[in-house]
Amino acid sequence: MAATSSSGLFFLALSLLACFPFCSCHCSSVSNKNAEGGMMKGMFVFGSSLVDNGNNNFLPNSLARADYLPYGIDFPLGPSGRFTNGRNVIDLLVGHLKLPSLIPAFADPKTRGSKIVHGVNFASGASGILDDTGSLAGHVINLNQQIRNFEEITLPELETQLGCRSHQSLPNYLFVVGTGGNDYSFNYFLRSSNKNVSLEIFTANLTASLSRQLKKLHNLGARKFVAMSVNPLGCSPVVRMNRPTHNGCVQSMNRAAHLFNSHLKSLVDVIRAEMPGSSLVFVNSYKIIRDIIKNPISKGFKDSSTTCCEVASISEGGNGILCKRGGEVCANRSSHVFFDGLHPTEAVNVQIATKAYVSSLKTEVYPTNIARMTKSKI
Ligand SMILES: *[C@@H]1O[C@H](CO)[C@@H](O)[C@H](O)[C@H]1NC(C)=O
Ligand SMILES: *[C@@H]1O[C@H](CO)[C@@H](O)[C@H](O)[C@H]1NC(C)=O
Ligand SMILES: *[C@@H]1O[C@H](CO)[C@@H](O)[C@H](O)[C@H]1NC(C)=O
Repeated sequence: MAATSSSGLFFLALSLLACFPFCSCHCSSVSNKNAEGGMMKGMFVFGSSLVDNGNNNFLPNSLARADYLPYGIDFPLGPSGRFTNGRNVIDLLVGHLKLPSLIPAFADPKTRGSKIVHGVNFASGASGILDDTGSLAGHVINLNQQIRNFEEITLPELETQLGCRSHQSLPNYLFVVGTGGNDYSFNYFLRSSNKNVSLEIFTANLTASLSRQLKKLHNLGARKFVAMSVNPLGCSPVVRMNRPTHNGCVQSMNRAAHLFNSHLKSLVDVIRAEMPGSSLVFVNSYKIIRDIIKNPISKGFKDSSTTCCEVASISEGGNGILCKRGGEVCANRSSHVFFDGLHPTEAVNVQIATKAYVSSLKTEVYPTNIARMTKSKI
């Protein structure tokens, strides 16, 4: 009796072992199509406040938070930690990709078990590519830590949920990275220790780090990437305040963003060769926003320079970026480019996400758009 049951166990163990590397028994749950007919099963998101959907709410010492009104005033769930009035670019991509639900925030304790099968958002407002970029904002999660959270916590749980090795399931997920702006705004331009370092060297260093971080994700099994550009930092209300501008923007900040973006765009070509089987789309949100600011009326906007919400100034204990808690807000959010001192309104996010998904201009999406990339075999 004892002998039979232990040999039964032995065979069970043997068949599990035989199955695990191939997983043909369970991996049928990971098809190229999701229930709604979209090509991707889900999305993993890394980066800063432009893509954060509430991770900082769970960091007790973070000053970079958007979990109060008027943030979320146009979002179905109200204030959620998204740094805008409504949906951010990630929420809008969820719609384009026909994913069944919004992507949950990693730091939310409810983001466990079956909740992770369509992806997880690791992004953290005020964070950067470099580990020390977010330190001004108290506790934030830098990009290296975001990737460690993905590797050490989410990946093992995903393998359990899907009954599948990550190398088999991850090609069906989109990996979106939106970061870099804070490495300039809160690091390069703010710290005297950078006075020695030229913009070119600093930028080369940033993109070299980002390249290593993308390769790490590729080693873990990621194959389809979206890299968001840095926005025109010099056009944001917080930067324009009390500073000379040219065509409405502070040139030195825009030059930095532009330099980073051209490095990132060339990285697309270099890195594809170094990451076998992968494809990567560069989304030029810089150009998309710059085009709106140059010609707001024709793009449906009336105000491209002031904030929609009332921003707490430095004398009021704020930083010129975040909305005042419970403060005033403009009546027509969709006529404004900027919601607060730094972050665009949902109306701008709609334009970025739509162009990211379907634009046919290589100056907006390079080398192709997300729709084309997700439909291609590799
Ligand atoms: C700046 O440059 C000086 C002289 O080249 C050097 O001694 C110093 O260590 C540098 N500082 C930093 C922070 O790199
Ligand atoms: C990049 O940054 C690291 C750490 O700050 C530094 O040691 C290294 O010299 C930098 N490299 C370049 C190319 O600037
Ligand atoms: C809000 O602004 C948009 C864009 O400028 C405009 O099309 C729309 O008519 C405005 N809505 C209201 C209620 O004023």
